Amino acid sequence: MPLRSARARGVPHDAVHHPLFARYYARFSVSAETRMGMARVRERMLTGLSGRVIEVGAGNGLNFSHYPGTVSEVVAIEPERVLRQLAVESAQRAGVPVDVAPGAAEALPVKSEAFDAAVLSLVLCSVRDVPRALAELRRVLRPGGQLRFFEHGLGGGRVMTATQRALDRTLWPPLSGGCHLSREPVAALRDAGFTLGPYRQVMMPENGPALPSSYCVLGTAWRPS
Ligand SMILES: C[S@@+](CC[C@H](N)C(=O)[O-])C[C@H]1O[C@@H](n2cnc3c(N)ncnc32)[C@H](O)[C@@H]1O
Repeated sequence: MPLRSARARGVPHDAVHHPLFARYYARFSVSAETRMGMARVRERMLTGLSGRVIEVGAGNGLNFSHYPGTVSEVVAIEPERVLRQLAVESAQRAGVPVDVAPGAAEALPVKSEAFDAAVLSLVLCSVRDVPRALAELRRVLRPGGQLRFFEHGLGGGRVMTATQRALDRTLWPPLSGGCHLSREPVAALRDAGFTLGPYRQVMMPENGPALPSSYCVLGTAWRPS
């Protein structure tokens, strides 16, 4: 399917430019697949999907090998140039067709109601405008289409949430490619008009120390029919 230009829609292709973070993430994320159990989480997140899927903020493409054969096509949007190149390489090894394209969550370069499902993993923490990104996801999903998500956010006790908020005001976003620790993905999905399906809290790493980025949620949401 021809992609519409994100630039024409007000967001440049390389709207996200974090080359140092991208290189760090490319290494860290690969070791986290086994060391932190991320491969298992990706498998669970994507199981049972079918039809046309859009993955937003695909990074270096670590989800690609976990899509089931019932998925006919994945359109993977990634705005960061270094990660996008790695995603292209990962797409070549995937078991389903994956088309990697530049673009940003806030102005997806695709037609409305074109996808059966959408995937977001560790992305809502980093987008500039969460409501706009989720409105875009609703636009591109068909009525009744589903969103699979794995996101980290606010969690833990008072000391932990205060720490997350303090880090968000200071060091964390500039050091982590624009990531925030104290966003609330489930509330954001609800506010955007998604119907929450089953979801559950997951600690990442599951058995390690609780870090400010450990409080995750894994689940499904639906665009109402
Ligand atoms: C922590 S990485 C996660 C990558 C991948 N989804 C994964 O599960 O490994 C965050 C990703 O969000 C992307 N990102 C940041 N801002 C974005 C935006 N406005 N629109 C789309 N993706 C964005 C980054 O370039 C990066 O690939």
